[in-house]
This record gives sequence, structure tokens and C-alpha cells, in this order.
Amino acid sequence: SFTSLTGDERPSGVALVETAGGVCSPAPSGALQCDVLRPLRLPAILVGDPKLGGISTTIASLETLAARGYDVVAIVMSGSACGNVDAVEQYASEFNQVGGGEDARGIPTFALPPVPERRIVGDVVGHGREIYEWLDDGRDVFDALLTHATSWHRERVRKMRTAPDEALRTLWWPFTQHDATPRENVTVIDSRCGEDFGVYSPDSNAIELRFDGAASWWTQGASKAEQTRLVRAASAAAGRYGHVMFPENVHAPALDAASELLKGAGRDWATRVFYSDNGSTAMEVAVKMAIRTYFVRKGFIPSPEKASDAADFLPQVRVLALDGSYHGDTLGTMDMQAPSVFTGPLQTPWYKPRGIFLRPPTLQMREGRWGVIQPERGPLPGGGGLAAVTTHGAREREEGWATREEAFDHETRDETPLAKAYRAVVDAALDEAEADAKENGAPPVAALVMECVLHGAGGMDLIDPTFQRATIQACRARGLPVVLDEVFAGIWRLGAEGAWELLGEKPDVSCYAKLFTGGLTPLAATATTEEVFDAFRGPTKQNALLHGHSYTAYPIGCAVAAEAQRMYRDPLINDNLVEMGGGDARAASGPLRVGGGPLRVGGPGPPRLRLRELWDEHAARAISALPCVKGVTVIGCVLAIELEDSVGGGGGGG
Ligand SMILES: Cc1ncc(COP(=O)(O)O)c(C=O)c1O
Repeated sequence: SFTSLTGDERPSGVALVETAGGVCSPAPSGALQCDVLRPLRLPAILVGDPKLGGISTTIASLETLAARGYDVVAIVMSGSACGNVDAVEQYASEFNQVGGGEDARGIPTFALPPVPERRIVGDVVGHGREIYEWLDDGRDVFDALLTHATSWHRERVRKMRTAPDEALRTLWWPFTQHDATPRENVTVIDSRCGEDFGVYSPDSNAIELRFDGAASWWTQGASKAEQTRLVRAASAAAGRYGHVMFPENVHAPALDAASELLKGAGRDWATRVFYSDNGSTAMEVAVKMAIRTYFVRKGFIPSPEKASDAADFLPQVRVLALDGSYHGDTLGTMDMQAPSVFTGPLQTPWYKPRGIFLRPPTLQMREGRWGVIQPERGPLPGGGGLAAVTTHGAREREEGWATREEAFDHETRDETPLAKAYRAVVDAALDEAEADAKENGAPPVAALVMECVLHGAGGMDLIDPTFQRATIQACRARGLPVVLDEVFAGIWRLGAEGAWELLGEKPDVSCYAKLFTGGLTPLAATATTEEVFDAFRGPTKQNALLHGHSYTAYPIGCAVAAEAQRMYRDPLINDNLVEMGGGDARAASGPLRVGGGPLRVGGPGPPRLRLRELWDEHAARAISALPCVKGVTVIGCVLAIELEDSVGGGGGGG
């Protein structure tokens, strides 16, 4: 009922929730009151402090509330000889809040008469009759405050009610057919609270919590309590740096986030971190890096110094990629993807698939057991004659596995006929490409590019890890750099910090975004080995990596990324962590931490951590046995349920 919003047409009332002490005074649990009350999204009336030092206390409280996303509707202060009211009023009159709009700039300050001194009344300290006189004297101010608060509230409701119309008029949503989006389908998000959105419901005229089942495009990783930790990192970096350009510059957040990535997802393979803004650009730069590495490895560029001289003679190249992988929507990333409705001529006639696309076998739990699902044969959809290479016909143990772990038991599975069949398919595809390059001048394959372990946007398909291992090994054997796209799968989403760990194969280049910043700021990283970095060294700028973005390595994003990575990895904060051997990561948190600082890097180091299974396996098994369910995929934070399609053929346009 605290969140119920009363509109004009209903009888109105006012409820005041008075906190004890200041906004940062602890609640009984020890958490700060401003954190405990935050999910309710109650508008705040800040009672200022008229005493000596009170300007600072009041302004600090205002900043604290604003940093947590509160709407501060008004400040009310009793007068004093210290001049606090004037100072606070001046500060608050310029205070800008989220979504306030031009008219709502500034917070009004209401000045009450000075509160009478407390004195001894009978045998207690308190106020006598004069407090009633003070209330009387302040009546006009209280009335004005109530009028202001009521009209503020009406305005809040009005804005939420009209937001869908304004959105339909002025915004352009991604992946959305506006003509097929009726007004009532537009969700008005008032705030986020851990795993939920606070959504305005016009029916109940209230803010309701709705579970964010897609973790906001898989970016979210912080609990309601830990969100504040990331906000703090962001505001400290914003306050200190704002934005600063990056080439030949360095700042602490850039070093901090890189160091966390190299000791986390990049541990044991990566030595360099290149920053960009989002997953798509991280992938574009990854492919640029991989192609140069290929040229150097194959001797097209005899030495990095010669890179610019040789540029005219370098061939066009292709990549080996997977049908169903998604790497983004920029023109470059589209070319790494197999044809689909997202790359069709209606989207852009510039699309030019630059891949040999393997159609991968997947794993799914069906009727309680895990098994390999071989892909369909046939040309790629919308494909311009492009055929997908499939592993169809390769046979797996018919009985499948009781647990997913068995399907990820690489030692055993690598020896099976299926693994050998996978390798043969990949080798045959690469042989054919090599022959095509030699005989017909077709672009040679220069790199392997694939999403790691799970096709996220492509439908939550868990790719058979034995197939991905075979593909990586085949490419490595031919000197092709391996680019993994861990934008979705990396940084714990599938239970391991680096998704490559689940494959037991290290990449040459890998991309991280989404969870990298805990869902707070957009930032991506392309991590590489030293060999890849070396491919761009040389005496001139021409053969350097001439790629960057205005906001490359912006300090706010880096500060959040550093904090998010530490937060996930700290067993004292993240109680879902377990040690690889099944031990309790909390119990081990003593030796894992060095001087209270982050985990040790290099050498034998601390044991690698995993997330405990977050979904109830028995429930997932039972769901997979339901007649309306075709199969279930469950790994790390992901639970995907594929329903039987009785109508037939959903299609990419659905
Ligand atoms: C695997 C993968 N790669 C790349 C991207 C593109 O990332 P962004 O949307 O940040 O450009 C996505 C986005 O969903 C993704 O899932």
C-alpha cells in the first residue's frame, strides 16, 4: 500500500513514513535506512538541520538520496541564527533530478519558524505548550508544503500516464515494429530494484514489481543491495574525471578494470585489454586483430615493420563461424553472421556474408535427459545459395546423459567417435576453403569466430562443447586465430568467470560486455594475447591498430567494470560462489584474499571459482518432461524452455 498512487478521481489521503535519525542512520538490520526504504520509491521530504554544521548535513543527505534514485520533493527547515535556510535553499534551487524536465529544476525549501528550545517539563525534557504555538505559527508553511507535495505527486502520476504516448510519438525502439505496438503494450519503468522493474500500472494506478526475466538483455548482475556499490564507483569516477580521452593517457579506473579482467576472465591467457563501448564494437575490433594476426602468422606480412608496405597485396579474407551466432547489428558484425532476417536486404543491401558457416549440434534436456540435437540440413535461411556445413549423421551414444556435467566431461567425450566425426567435418570445411582459395582465388579463412558455449540472442542454444573444442583444435592446428564472443556468455553468466573455461580451450582474442559493468554502464573489452598485440607493433603509426571511439575507456565505465568484477568474485559478497572442487568458497575466502585485497594473480594462484547451479535441477527435469515442452536448457544463470510449436515454424520475424 505504500506504493499505491492516488489519482485525481479517487479520494486522496496522505501517509508520512518518518525515519529515525538521518537518511544514513542504520535500520535494525544494520542496513542504511535510505537503502531499506529505496525499493518503495516513496517521494522524500528532507528535514534539514538548522544547527551549526547543518548546511553540510542537509546537503550531504540530499546528495545521498539523489544518488540512490530518490525523488526529493521538498526540503523543510526551521529557521535558525546560522543562516542554514538561505544556504540550503540556494543549493537546492539548482539541484537537478532524474527526469525532472526543465520546469522541475530545483527543489523548493520551506522555512518554518525556529523550533522552541526544549526544556524540563515536570520531570522530562521536552516541549511545553509552546510547541503547539509553533505548529500554529507554521500552519501556512505546512499548508504550502502539502499543496506542493500533492501537486508534485499528481504531476508524477500524469507523467507516467502520458509517457507511452510521448514514447510512441518521439522514440524509435530497436527490434520493434512500431505499427504493431499498441499503447497498452508500452511498459513504463519507474525504477529498477534488484531483479525487478518497478512498473507503473494504469489499471491499479500503482507501481508494481515485475521480474526482469531477461536480466535487461543479460546485462544485470548486481543484487538490489549491491547496486549501490556500482553507483558509488560511477559517481566517484564521474566526479573525479568526467570523461578524458585515452590514447597515450592512463587513469586509475582504466588500469583497475584491465587488471581485474586479466586476473579474472583473461587469467592464464590474455595480457592486453582494448576498450570499446559495446559488444558489437568489441567484436569488430576483435576481428580486425585476428585478421592482422593471421597475416603475420602466415607471412603475408613478413614482419610488423613491413605491414604498411604490404597492405596493397593483402587478400580479402573470410572467417569460419557458426550459423546461429549473434555478434551485433553493426555492418561489420553482420558480415560475420550467417544470413537471417536480421541481415536481409530489407535491413541493409550492404550485407555481405564473409563466413563459412558451420551449423552446430546443440545440447538440450528432453524428458529428463541431456542429449545431442543434430542440426537440420539444408541451405541457410535467406541464404543466397550459402550452404551450412552440418554434422548431421554423426552419432552420439543414444542414451544421452543424466547430468550436464557428463556432457562437459571433455576427457571422456573427446575420445568418442562423435568427437572424431566433428573434427572431420570441420577439417573438411577448412580443406575445401583452402582449395577454393588456391584454385579459384576465393578469400582464405583467416580466423575462427564464434559465440562461446551458448548462442544467446540466437535462441539460448547450448552448443555441444565437444563440437566447439573440435572446431577450435582444428583451427589452431592450421594457425587460425581463435576469436570467442563472450559478450553474452562471459563474466559468470554461464557459471564461470570466463566462458572459455567451460570449454577448456583458451582463445587468442575474446570479447566481454554486458555483465562486465554489472548492468550499470555500457563498456566492452576485447582481451588478447601478447602475440596478437605484437602483430600491430612497429615503427610507424600506419600499422598500429587505428581504431577507437570517443568514449574509449571512459573512466566511469572502467570504474564500474573494476568494481563489478571484484564484486562477483568476492565470496564474502557473492554467496553463490563455490570452489571448482566443490568446496565452499566462503570458507576459503581467507586464503583467497591477500591483505583484504583482490584475488592473487599468476602462478598456481587461488582455485578457480564457479557459481553454484542457480536453477533447481529437479524442477528443470520435471519441466522438460511436460508434454507442451520440447526441451530445457539450463546452465549458470540461464534457464530456457523451448515449447512445442503446435502451430509450426515460428520464423525469425516472430
Ligand atoms: C554474443 C553477443 N555478441 C555481441 C552482442 C552485441 O553486443 P551489444 O548489443 O552490446 O552491441 C550481443 C548482444 O546481445 C551478444 O549477445
